[in-house]
Amino acid sequence: MTDLLIKNATLPDGRTGIDIACNKGLITGLEPGITTEAGQEIDAGGLLVAPPFVDPHFHMDATLSRGTPRMNVSGTLLEGIALWGELKEIQTIDMIIERALAYCDLAVAKGIGAIRTHVDTCDDPLTGVQALLQVREQVKPYLDLQLVAFPQDGVLRDPTAMDNTIRALDMGVDVVGGIPHFERTMADGTASVTALCEIAAERGLMVDMHCDESDDPLSRHVEMLAFETTRLGLQGRVTGSHLTSMHSMDNYYVSKLIPLMVEAGLHALPNPAINIMLQGRHDTYPKRRGMTRVRELRDAGLNVGFGSDCMMDPWYSLGQADMLDIAWMALHVGQLSSMDDMRWCFDAVTENSARIMGLEGYGLAIGKPAHFNLLHASDPIDAIRQRATRLKVVRAGKVIAETPAPIAALSLPNRPGSANPIV
Ligand code: FE2
Repeated sequence: MTDLLIKNATLPDGRTGIDIACNKGLITGLEPGITTEAGQEIDAGGLLVAPPFVDPHFHMDATLSRGTPRMNVSGTLLEGIALWGELKEIQTIDMIIERALAYCDLAVAKGIGAIRTHVDTCDDPLTGVQALLQVREQVKPYLDLQLVAFPQDGVLRDPTAMDNTIRALDMGVDVVGGIPHFERTMADGTASVTALCEIAAERGLMVDMHCDESDDPLSRHVEMLAFETTRLGLQGRVTGSHLTSMHSMDNYYVSKLIPLMVEAGLHALPNPAINIMLQGRHDTYPKRRGMTRVRELRDAGLNVGFGSDCMMDPWYSLGQADMLDIAWMALHVGQLSSMDDMRWCFDAVTENSARIMGLEGYGLAIGKPAHFNLLHASDPIDAIRQRATRLKVVRAGKVIAETPAPIAALSLPNRPGSANPIV
């Protein structure tokens, strides 16, 4: 007897006809032909069952605030930061909690099982920190939420940001953030990386910095991030978010930089939808699109994930908590169009992003938590193509969200030799 039995699933690695038994919240069987009585049995009909989507970069203290107190007219990153400053003055803990919980509901329905959110640590009341610490506890049964202490206005540029960031960490925020390219000078940016990495090392925490979110090819703070990671023994625990300046850097310099990043075991985390929307705003034509060098970083051996960053906030008016949208965008902007590259884009919003967050027990294997999605897709490429419907979202062996199959959809398996359309 088992709690839940999924019959005839296709897995992301290509295995087909797989049954998945779940008992007491864990995966207890993963093979063809499992015969056992089950509290609930679901016929996957050959469709894709994949581990949950992971969004390793988001701003939950700002989400769903679009238009408050006004819209971002220029569409630039800098106007977004200024607008966020206006919003911070007027939003309350309750407002943030209400919006964040609404977002979490949507994210779960879209099959997201874990989110790393940055939370602004510059304001003295730490309004966002107080709100999201409550949200983290409230959503725990159905969503892993990790908080990054993020001094949005610059940990050195803002006079109280350092003290407040340390207070936020004392209150239980999980990860150390930063924004070196927004400090007043290159030297201050460098100093901020050193100071924040040392704080993380002392406390045994991970680091995730907004790093070089700029079109300026001379914004090279990722170099210092790699250096401090290696010096302080933080390999594998440090993420460079955005890294958009790498798009514009001189190729010779990049040929030196990437090996340093590999040596440091950095994770690279572009946010494709936001990068392509916000970068290159000062260009005429040709117009840079700002996404970092995904293929080069991946091929050099770095772990690369994709984040969504924003939804309906001062920086971005759209979004729907859909990591397949993000993979789809990255695939196009990065020209990752071979079969292997497209499959890898699915990994980037699942396994790779789980590694960035350091999620324990992630993945489909016996003994791991029974967290997964049944998607209306034949395989990972088909899932990206369709931004496939999340038919069932399973958490700890229980179905926690369902969406009906689309009326008009055609899934043709990408596997050679397979010709059974799933309609
Ligand atoms: Fe961000």
